[in-house]
Amino acid sequence: MVVNTSRSLLYTLCREAVSFRSELRFYKSAFVSRQVFHCQRRTYSANGTKTSLSPNICSSLAGRSYKELYELSVEDPDTFWGSIAKERLLWNRPFDHVNNCDISTGRINWFPGGQLNVSVNCLDVHVAKHPNRVALVWERDEPGTEVNVTYRELLESTCRLANTLKRHGIHRGDRVAIYMPVSPLAVAAMLACARIGAVHTVVFAGFSAEALAGRIQDAQCKAVVTCNQGVRGGRVIELKATVDAAVKSCPSVRSVFVAQRTSNRVPMTGIDVLLEEEMAKEAADCSPEVMDSEDMLFMLYTSGSTGQPKGIVHTQAGYLLYASLTHQYVFDYRPGDVFGCVADIGWVTGHSYVVYGPLCNGATTVLFESTPVYPDPGRYWETVERLGINQFYGAPTAIRLLLKYEESWVKKYDRSSLKTLGSVGEPINHEAWEWFYNVVGDGRCPLVDTWWQTETGGVCIAPRPAEDGAEIIPAMAMRPFFGVQPALMDETGAAITGNDVSGALCISKPWPGMARTIYGDHQRFVDAYLKPYPGYYFTGDGAYRSKDGYYQITGRMDDVINISGHRLGTAEIEDALDEHPGVPETAVIGIPHDIKGEVPFAFVVLKEDDSLDHSVVIEDLRGLVATKIAKYAIPDHFLIVKRLPKTRSGKIMRRILRKVATDETSNLGDISTLDDPSVVTEIMQAYTRFKNQPAQKR
Ligand code: WT7
Repeated sequence: MVVNTSRSLLYTLCREAVSFRSELRFYKSAFVSRQVFHCQRRTYSANGTKTSLSPNICSSLAGRSYKELYELSVEDPDTFWGSIAKERLLWNRPFDHVNNCDISTGRINWFPGGQLNVSVNCLDVHVAKHPNRVALVWERDEPGTEVNVTYRELLESTCRLANTLKRHGIHRGDRVAIYMPVSPLAVAAMLACARIGAVHTVVFAGFSAEALAGRIQDAQCKAVVTCNQGVRGGRVIELKATVDAAVKSCPSVRSVFVAQRTSNRVPMTGIDVLLEEEMAKEAADCSPEVMDSEDMLFMLYTSGSTGQPKGIVHTQAGYLLYASLTHQYVFDYRPGDVFGCVADIGWVTGHSYVVYGPLCNGATTVLFESTPVYPDPGRYWETVERLGINQFYGAPTAIRLLLKYEESWVKKYDRSSLKTLGSVGEPINHEAWEWFYNVVGDGRCPLVDTWWQTETGGVCIAPRPAEDGAEIIPAMAMRPFFGVQPALMDETGAAITGNDVSGALCISKPWPGMARTIYGDHQRFVDAYLKPYPGYYFTGDGAYRSKDGYYQITGRMDDVINISGHRLGTAEIEDALDEHPGVPETAVIGIPHDIKGEVPFAFVVLKEDDSLDHSVVIEDLRGLVATKIAKYAIPDHFLIVKRLPKTRSGKIMRRILRKVATDETSNLGDISTLDDPSVVTEIMQAYTRFKNQPAQKR
């Protein structure tokens, strides 16, 4: 088999085969003594009668077992997705075909010919049946000050906001940036875009002005929706000031809509519009734009292996259907449940499991504005008790932080409402899994480790759904969702058969939630995801398939790191550092961290200039990353070196840097391709000096 260039490149980039394999050995040994939990699913409906355990996905597929449904979903996806889409979504025009996909060219079309409006499916259909059901519980930063918003109220504010956008010249197809913390108005802004056919791009409110500007420019946004200030963990965040700084370099922006989160006044400029004041003048109804299934719904920027974040595009019907189905079946959401996903709407988790999935299912969804430790480490569980949360979906990094505190922070709150626990964003280690399952869930709630990506739209691998009472193996995503066929590929690009094997994780057929393109650069989409393994979607992750056929994610194979569940390309950090006039070259790698999962470690080469004070340069470098990307991206460690280890063709050998920074220099692997192998000793010596400096943070 001929290995194409992008694939072999990928393998060169791959986190060093040796450490990859030793990691896998670790995972395998963990299975020998694995603890298997047979989690009991709650099987009671609201009136106390026993319900069928097999998911009643839609009337024409009723009564089938999980296994039958999964088989149908992969063998006959048209029947599976077609029946579900017809029944679960409200269409203005029925679709002509279920799918028209060609994964090799990147043509991903689901439900062509169909027309619908996403906001109607998330709001109007529920208002017609139960207008006073609570749609959103806004768990504000200040505990005990939650605000409930009913479906009728959310529809009204969505329409008012939609009318405000239209009055300011935002039309179907226009892009709108949303730079807001989690709040009902942020959700209304997303749904208002959906209502009028505009495309939203939510930018996490922790990103810097420059990062925001880069996204606005790439998307050519016509408007920004923001708040005067944000409030998180008792601290005020100057959001409007950041937007002001960003839009200076964004001529496409004609209006900035400013919501008032605090009573403080912030400076206003000519293009600013006071959002609530304008909304009050508008009608509370707005006729929805009829959208084609494959019109854009939103884009969300995420990191890849280059310095340039990519605008991942999701469209209307397929995304919504996939978000709603996974929301119901992965978490076993039942009507009447209070669904608590504590993610920020700035990430895809917030899109699919705070907003679109739950609202499409008519759920009550929690908007969590605070932090896990504000005002104390009991915040999550106090919130669970006060709001009666039934499904709690969070990130391993928060769990790792909380397990360091006394169990009493958990135990003093009543968590009997909890039915399912979920984890997402990064591998969950055993200690965190056990604590979450046993301490938080009292050993009685299934804990689902959900694997997915911005690009997949919704959960692709998770322990649920499964046959009733099926085992859940700790810290393992385990089973593919309906319609998802994982494949593991070897170095030659061939699919690995059998079990107890590891390789590059791919998905072999399109599913309705998968990304359609990268905004403005379809070729990049094809090159990054579809070309490495022709005929497959390549995830960028490695995985192990256990002898029972379950999947375990082993981590990224590219230069993407995961800091507290936030994905970041090391190239983005390097680009920021390289702006420093005294720094000709840098290399950033990720190293393990017991709470954040991974942290960036920067190797920095300075210009030959004795006058440079190293600590001043490092301070400047920190500042550069904060202003160009975000504070969370600032490397934890900086090591000044004379040169970087390079191959004769000039490529930096990052695996050597990883070995040095993790004290694993006993086996450096093959260094014969290095241009000058003496660089290794040089860097190791610099690292030893660095480690022995008393003041140096390690
Ligand atoms: C990357 C995607 C999906 C929403 C949040 C992150 C890593 C995600 C898991 C998991 C191991 C995981 C992968 C993936 N990841 N979930 N359960 N176990 N790794 O979305 O920012 O697009 O990041 O996060 O490496 O590729 P994202």
